[in-house]
Amino acid sequence: MDNYVKKAYIRTYGCKQNFADSEKISGFLALSGFEIVKTAEEADLILFNTCAVRENAEQRVFGNVGALKKLKADKPETVIVLSGCMTQQSNIAERFKTKFPFIDTIIGTDILSRLPEIIAKVGSNERKSTVINIGEAGGSYGDSHEGVKPLREGLYTANVPIMNGCDNFCTYCVVPLVRGREVSRRPENIVAEVKELIAEGRKDILLLGQNVNSFGKGSNYGFIDLLRELDSIPGEFIIDYMTSHPKDCGRELLDFIANSRNISRHLHLPVQSGSNRILSLMNRGYTREQYMELAAYAKAKIPAISLTTDILVGFPGETYEDFKDTLDLVEKIGFDSAYTFIYSKREGTKAAEMADFISADEKSAWFKELLDLQGRIGERSYERYIGKTLRVLCLGQGRSDPQLQTGKSRQGIIVDFSGAVKAGEFADVRVTRALPWALVGELTVDSF
Ligand code: 5AD
Ligand code: SF4
Repeated sequence: MDNYVKKAYIRTYGCKQNFADSEKISGFLALSGFEIVKTAEEADLILFNTCAVRENAEQRVFGNVGALKKLKADKPETVIVLSGCMTQQSNIAERFKTKFPFIDTIIGTDILSRLPEIIAKVGSNERKSTVINIGEAGGSYGDSHEGVKPLREGLYTANVPIMNGCDNFCTYCVVPLVRGREVSRRPENIVAEVKELIAEGRKDILLLGQNVNSFGKGSNYGFIDLLRELDSIPGEFIIDYMTSHPKDCGRELLDFIANSRNISRHLHLPVQSGSNRILSLMNRGYTREQYMELAAYAKAKIPAISLTTDILVGFPGETYEDFKDTLDLVEKIGFDSAYTFIYSKREGTKAAEMADFISADEKSAWFKELLDLQGRIGERSYERYIGKTLRVLCLGQGRSDPQLQTGKSRQGIIVDFSGAVKAGEFADVRVTRALPWALVGELTVDSF
């Protein structure tokens, strides 16, 4: 069995940052001689990289881990590892340990540092034991593990984490507790990575951080400096970024983007609520008026911009009056899309201590009202692009119609179009039709 290739299966929950972490874990495992496989059954090592941002995500993980019991009984040599934001919370890690004693190792968010000891367990005859080994909240960022190349899916897109952690402590959010304080990567490492990705032919780069606007905080090299350096790399590509925080997203950033070549015209700017009272209870650090001014400035400065947001419904103490302020803001701004969430109580956060009088039924009704409103707005919002020409990165055959090609515009919008363009190349597409979730158009000039 000398040439037996060990196999690893990774299942990832939650945000893009978590997926980017898993790509790096896959890269490390590949370097260590593992093949990354698509099913848990064929794996020697199973790793679940979990998410804690809302309770329903956690419940899914509990269900999926429970389902591994039989697999472990049939194949006891399989090493099962849980990692990520959920396991960083010691009460949850303890719950896993008692509920699912067949789990081999539970680690937190600093996964790469612990992979060598986990890899050593795979194939060894040592009796497996459940180890709770959480450590500091944080992750493998800063200077550590810069040499590990993530194993990325797809040919043209790439997630590039630029920082980890969060210093904001929005009162509902568990992220600062499980991912620790903000740590930015060194700019030269990020620039080198993006140059390499572009040299590989990747053209759609997404910079990731919980609050990208505070990149490099405390140094004299901030987020705009990073974008400027990336924008000056020769070639045509898209640099997108998320998530921006309204309190830190300055006008200088928007001014810079308006004049940039390759920086995305998509701005994801989570508002969370339209009520000043709730924004203050959430510790968001801005008012609805400030947010609306910023959104108006972005639209005026960058007319082609696509603005999207996150909204939380049913924060403790929220009244219908507060919620109506959110509806009003949504109506006035006209987001292209909004990710809407019902508030989920997270242990250890300030909001978890706040009195919550609203029933679950009421929250669901409000949530539906918001969805309906945003649905109506979103249905028509892309119509403003009809007749305009957008630069589109072609990504191959269309999903809705195989006769069409599909691509992504610099606004992050899906564009299906007729005409021949090679995947991975940019083309000018004139928009003829708007769907709620995509644009349809035709090439302005056929390319040969
Ligand atoms: N409950 C519901 N949604 C939440 N989010 C963050 N914490 C919670 C919570 N406790 C949402 C916010 C954030 C998005 C990533 O997840 O809207 O912007
Ligand atoms: Fe959570 Fe607020 Fe940090 Fe975003 S900015 S990760 S919502 S604490």
